[in-house]
Amino acid sequence: SSGGEAQIERTLAIIKPDGLFGNHTDAVKKIILESGFRILKEKIVQLDQESAASFYAEHSARSFFHSLVQYMTSGPVLVMVLERDDAVSGWRTLIGPTDAIKAKITHPQSIRAMCGTDAEKNCVHGSDSSQSAQREISFFFDSMPSGLQDIEHDEL
Ligand code: PPS
Repeated sequence: SSGGEAQIERTLAIIKPDGLFGNHTDAVKKIILESGFRILKEKIVQLDQESAASFYAEHSARSFFHSLVQYMTSGPVLVMVLERDDAVSGWRTLIGPTDAIKAKITHPQSIRAMCGTDAEKNCVHGSDSSQSAQREISFFFDSMPSGLQDIEHDEL
């Protein structure tokens, strides 16, 4: 479309193992729905080392990579496809800064401030661009069709 109108977009959200273990799922979903997102698809997945490393491949040179992979395989995650105007940046804004310790100071209303612990256990993931969103949605819902629990809300 023309002239800076908001675009209907999809993004990938993940509630990470600390979010599920900490029983933050209902609170996070409430924020998602109250913020105008539709949850198009969701599933609970137990990542293995190979799939987690593949998902985070762009960070493979970072010092925290191994720790991140260990953490993301430490328990199940809830993966969701969210749809809304400006879903990618809108979800990133809602979740707040990467480091939950900093988020509690600078963005106390953010989801990571609410349910995260630190830079690793930060409760939630959000795609960082619409290109990443497409890759990540496809990663979970095309190349990895089976989850521990799959819920179809709508046709994609
Ligand atoms: S970004 O968007 O690339 O700038 O984000 P970034 O802060 O670089 O983080 C990328 C992902 O790595 C995770 N992360 C960490 N994991 C473990 N330990 C430390 N110290 C750490 N720092 C960053 C961060 O949570 C991001 O994961 P996702 O799932 O994308 O949120």
